[in-house]
Amino acid sequence: MAQIGKLLLLPGDGIGPEVMAQVRRLIDWLATHRDVQFAIEEGLIGGSAYDDCGAPLSDATMASAMAADAVLLGAVGGPKWDALPFDKKPERGLLRIRKEMGLFANLRPAIVFDALADASSLKRDRVEGLDILIVRELTGGIYFGEPKGIEDIGGGQRRGVNTQVYTTEEIVRVGRVAFELAKKRGRRVCSVEKSNVMESGLLWREEITKLHGAEYADMELAHMYADNCAMQLVRAPKQFDVIVTDNLFGDMLSDEAAMLTGSLGMLPSASLGQADAGGRKALYEPVHGSAPDIAGQGIANPLATVLSFAMLLRYSFDRQAEADAIEAAVRDVLDGGMRTADILQPGMAKVSTSVMGDALLRALDKGIA
Ligand code: IPM
Ligand code: MG
Repeated sequence: MAQIGKLLLLPGDGIGPEVMAQVRRLIDWLATHRDVQFAIEEGLIGGSAYDDCGAPLSDATMASAMAADAVLLGAVGGPKWDALPFDKKPERGLLRIRKEMGLFANLRPAIVFDALADASSLKRDRVEGLDILIVRELTGGIYFGEPKGIEDIGGGQRRGVNTQVYTTEEIVRVGRVAFELAKKRGRRVCSVEKSNVMESGLLWREEITKLHGAEYADMELAHMYADNCAMQLVRAPKQFDVIVTDNLFGDMLSDEAAMLTGSLGMLPSASLGQADAGGRKALYEPVHGSAPDIAGQGIANPLATVLSFAMLLRYSFDRQAEADAIEAAVRDVLDGGMRTADILQPGMAKVSTSVMGDALLRALDKGIA
């Protein structure tokens, strides 16, 4: 059997290892039933890496990530590591891997599954059939801008600084990803910034407008201030197709959009680098965090990580049929009434992480019968 590529699995902290274990079962299923096999490595990231080697991401694991065709990550963080200095915190491992792999485009779909439309905090008619894609810039902006830090300014006073900064190149390359994705969807892009207040936002608007005129004039482009976008997402979310925005606004708006779908436990994401002759670096992860409050209980929802794996098959390996099969299996188990605790609804069967995994495998088996 031929291997189709190198996969690095980084389960991380909290519920990360529990949900990743279910993806492992899908990987085995694909090898047996679809002749799709990967060379798999596993590594540590976040608090578990810190406990192991004193840093949230070791150089060796970083090197494995650079050598992999795709990385699948669980989640990082937890109260155990909250008091660590900034450069040791679990989140630093995530930021380092994003930055060093050059993963500037973060794709965060917010899709409402029919079976879950009532789990949304909005009324069913507002969210039924919702399918929006947030493209978040991931390696620039205020997350990485210099100067930054906390300094003493005398008299018992301190000063904390972060810098929001974007260049033409950073804006254009993520804009291009958004337009290319919109081409295969509803052909509409909404660019989000605060150009009424911020120079970096004004530059963002001007560069996206220029890119649109030069390369994508046959598609629809709208601009929106970030605060208005936050409001429109809860007022009338279906007005959006693709939203493209900076690192910080994307962080916030994607959490908001996630909640529209009923559960953070359902949403996958992909972080992509520049496509070149050697392919494209990519990391896939659920949008949810490490959920330390329920870690170790076997009750976490594995579906966001499973759907992240489907995105990995689609974007990094062009395995559309296998990605379709996994997404269909997810819909099938939801239609069959299976629910982990986070998406439990009246009359539905509350199942554990591994029983959800069992159900997915049964649905996949059904599909090939
Ligand atoms: C996310 C998270 C991260 C971020 C944290 C964990 C560093 O909130 O992926 O959205 O802020 O980017
Ligand atoms: Mg976030």
